[in-house]
Amino acid sequence: MDLATTLKSHTVRAEVRDVGTNPNHWYAIGWAKHLQAGQVMQAIVWQQAIAVYRDAEGTLHALEDACPHKGVELHRGKVMGQHLACRYHGWEFDTDGQCVKVPYLPKGQKLPCAQARSYPVQEQYGLIWVFPGDASLADDRQPPVMPEYTEPGWLKVFVTGHFNAHFSICNENSMDVFHGFLHENLQGWFDPRLLSLSETEDAVCAEYQVSYKGHMAKFLGLSERADQVTTLPITVQYRYPHYQSSLQGVSALYLMRLPVSPVKSRSFALFFFKIRLPQWLLKPLEPLLQWVLERFVLMKFLAQDIEMMESEQRQYLANPQRRYVEINPAIIAVQRLIVRQYERFKQSASQTSMNGHKALSPVVYRSVAMQQPNAEPSGWVPDRTDST
Ligand code: FES
Ligand SMILES: [Fe+2]
Repeated sequence: MDLATTLKSHTVRAEVRDVGTNPNHWYAIGWAKHLQAGQVMQAIVWQQAIAVYRDAEGTLHALEDACPHKGVELHRGKVMGQHLACRYHGWEFDTDGQCVKVPYLPKGQKLPCAQARSYPVQEQYGLIWVFPGDASLADDRQPPVMPEYTEPGWLKVFVTGHFNAHFSICNENSMDVFHGFLHENLQGWFDPRLLSLSETEDAVCAEYQVSYKGHMAKFLGLSERADQVTTLPITVQYRYPHYQSSLQGVSALYLMRLPVSPVKSRSFALFFFKIRLPQWLLKPLEPLLQWVLERFVLMKFLAQDIEMMESEQRQYLANPQRRYVEINPAIIAVQRLIVRQYERFKQSASQTSMNGHKALSPVVYRSVAMQQPNAEPSGWVPDRTDST
């Protein structure tokens, strides 16, 4: 459905800062190269702790991060072939989470009936993806498609973000092209216009027009000369729960959002840049260009965004009743989508339990009103890839 692009006052949806996620989607939880065969890591997807491990052959598995014996976190355990052994008493769990060994159990005695929940997990685009919801839906949903990942001629830059903010605040920042003012000193974009806006059950798509000028614009192939103003259309799509944006064949961004808690989010971003260099020169220069773009461009932009998002979160926690004014209809559409997805999940979860099936995992959706962001430092972590 097409929506009006007029910038006029809208009421901000108060519940959006307190809303949970729809877990029936694939969520990226980390970079694949950071988890080697025989290693285990913890992932938290909206308050669900998951132990993700690679078995001896390198295949990924994901189990609830709680031992059915005494609740100790399984990510503290040890990979034993295909199994994960809990650190405490060494109970071993197979890839379905079934307890298959208790090391001190006398021979011939029956194993206890104990099973940890298992989750669908896969590796795509250099990322590890987990499906934290109803596993029977996992095959029908897939991570976003990124054609640039395998196409030649794109320079890739991978960046991890940590935010002390609710995922709605982060998602609004990604959809909000009207904040070029913030990045003025970095020669960001200027003179933004919202050209079109559409909304479906699962997505919001906005087309903006933005102008660029300066040395960075020239370096990225946006203009022939640094003093020349170039105006281009940029599309920004929020396909719940992730983002993608594209600047007319010049650059593309896929931003995977990981909601951790009501006051904490992460993101895994894949930037693609069409640098105006021949392929033979681009290849050897790639590591240097990646480093320059991360360090002197992307991280600077993102540090400015983080400062704003975390300020917004603190202000919300200090006074959740306060009402705010928004004039960008794209932001209102993003808020609507976030709330709708959560409501849809709640409905399907209650339907499942009414039909007598096992209800989805007991994720606790609680009010954030009394919480404070924790002290973990936020920031953007550069993460260069060295392979295609
Ligand atoms: S707590 Fe895990 S084996 Fe005892
Ligand atoms: Fe920004």
